[in-house]
Amino acid sequence: MRETEIARAQEELAARGWALLNDAPFLPHGRPDPEGVLRIATGFGRPSDRDGGREIWTIAPRTTRPGATFSMRAGGAAFHTDAQYHSRPEDVICLFVVRPADDGGDTMLLTERDVVTALRREPAGETALERLAQPVWTWTPPDVFSKAAAAVPPMPVLPGDGTVRWRRDNLGPLRPPQAQAATVFESGLRHAPAVRLCHHPGDVIVIDNRRTLHGRTPFADPERRLLRVRLWADR
Ligand SMILES: [Fe+2]
Repeated sequence: MRETEIARAQEELAARGWALLNDAPFLPHGRPDPEGVLRIATGFGRPSDRDGGREIWTIAPRTTRPGATFSMRAGGAAFHTDAQYHSRPEDVICLFVVRPADDGGDTMLLTERDVVTALRREPAGETALERLAQPVWTWTPPDVFSKAAAAVPPMPVLPGDGTVRWRRDNLGPLRPPQAQAATVFESGLRHAPAVRLCHHPGDVIVIDNRRTLHGRTPFADPERRLLRVRLWADR
């Protein structure tokens, strides 16, 4: 991978909260090369092995259990940030496309700025923004990672510093005003202008996990395969 391409992606990541590399050299002979994956990933941070005990995590359908976490099952994934159940989520996520699904599974991206703009247009949006800024939100870690996560104090969803933390399906118990704010937030997510990235083998999608939510469109193809590396920005 040429240094200039990594530098361009680093600039894009800083400027808009995500970046895309095409034809990245991590698939020699069509098979993923872990060293190549980590060489590219380290252009964006220091790899984390906190959840799952490994730096490279395979995202592929491995179970049909509906409650399984997004990376282990087929189907869509609603907008979320990764590791939201930790007090400090990793700063960056790299998604390496090994094999796209033949029936969807595109990556969706949405920045905090666009979400806040959309929320201000929602009925009761301002009230929801106030509640989302309060440190009253908790998340339950997925079963597969539950041993790795320590107890975390309640956190804000939108603290107002340009960052966001969210996942709807594992939110802790909600009092009625919070439940209402969560519903308004989800409505904002639906109405905000998202970016949709179709996958090609050799793509690397780089996401600022502090500022950009990600999700995916539905798919059923059991052969879909991505590799994920989460990274710390301080090196
Ligand atoms: Fe994710």
